[in-house]
Amino acid sequence: MESLAPPVQVVGWSATGTLRVLDQRRLPAAVEHLELHTVEAIAEAIRSLAVRGAPAIGVAAAIGLAVIAAGPPETWRAAQHGRSLAEIESAAAALRATRPTAVNLAWALDRMLGVARAYASQGPADRAAALRAEAEAIRAEDAAMCAAIGRHGAALLPDGTRVLTHCNAGALATAGIGTALAPVYAAHAAGRRVAVFADETRPLLQGARLTAWELQRAGIPVTVCTDSMAASLMGSGAVDLVLVGADRIAANGDVANKIGTYGLAVLARHHGLPFVVAAPWSTIDPQAATGDAIPIEMRDAQEVRTIGATTVVADGIAVHNPAFDVTPHTLVSRIVTDRGMFTPPYVFAPDAQLLPPPA
Ligand code: MRU
Repeated sequence: MESLAPPVQVVGWSATGTLRVLDQRRLPAAVEHLELHTVEAIAEAIRSLAVRGAPAIGVAAAIGLAVIAAGPPETWRAAQHGRSLAEIESAAAALRATRPTAVNLAWALDRMLGVARAYASQGPADRAAALRAEAEAIRAEDAAMCAAIGRHGAALLPDGTRVLTHCNAGALATAGIGTALAPVYAAHAAGRRVAVFADETRPLLQGARLTAWELQRAGIPVTVCTDSMAASLMGSGAVDLVLVGADRIAANGDVANKIGTYGLAVLARHHGLPFVVAAPWSTIDPQAATGDAIPIEMRDAQEVRTIGATTVVADGIAVHNPAFDVTPHTLVSRIVTDRGMFTPPYVFAPDAQLLPPPA
């Protein structure tokens, strides 16, 4: 199922074999791609949100590390190209430090480092080839996980459902059809009418700039509202379901997601609405017992001080800018993953074979 029409590659490989990402800082004004091959440029693209959304960050880091492992592009034709294991580990550390909350980043890098270390005694060119294959597997698996989330989550969206979502957890945040928006795309593809309210999502406006853009392109009715309008929308009966993504889910079901998500969960509970989280298995961190163990990324005050080129907070005034908040599991009605739909109580054990509870 193609969600962006015409297809727009969010994260993948360029024709020359480097990392290619859609520059989401430019949307919706311009559709432009970046082609990257240095640690510095890839780290900066992730840090500055050129590529963003937990799954897409993981895929970008995996492809980026594979590209870095191959060495400078001008050496790729040489038989003995490629970087040392120490150089690959150092690059992975630099990429890991860019964004601390989205666990998919660390998850993807750990997978890549596992392969790099398994090839420690091989030549650098063989190691680079193995890393390229692993990065491609991570990309393809992410797309498949999104499709599975769509299949499981579409059951929550009968004909005529009105969804409220926050930030962007759509195709632009993944290598597939998204997480929170995957059930929306699946229900739409099944011929059901689904309408979406997109919170604009201050300060970086991922809802207004990205969610609205991709849903409009897919032909799905979307209405943008400011974050402060959610309560009155719910109170007026205009919303049936709140559906959001996640950057990290703790073992007990506490959910870290874009700042403002916690407030929506409180509002949903007050209004008796389901609050549903959709995320791939790679977003679950069983090592974090509760949300208290999830690191919250603090971002530059300038993001709040300005809207576009306009300064809205006078000099000398303090600014608070956490990128994410944690919604307690007690407010989460369901967690939709590629492995099925979970209901409380949530227990995400480190056992990778954990199966969904019976329906
Ligand atoms: O800061 P961002 O734009 O990377 O934040 C993205 C979100 O919070 C998404 O909701 C989350 O990563 C899920 S994306 C499928």
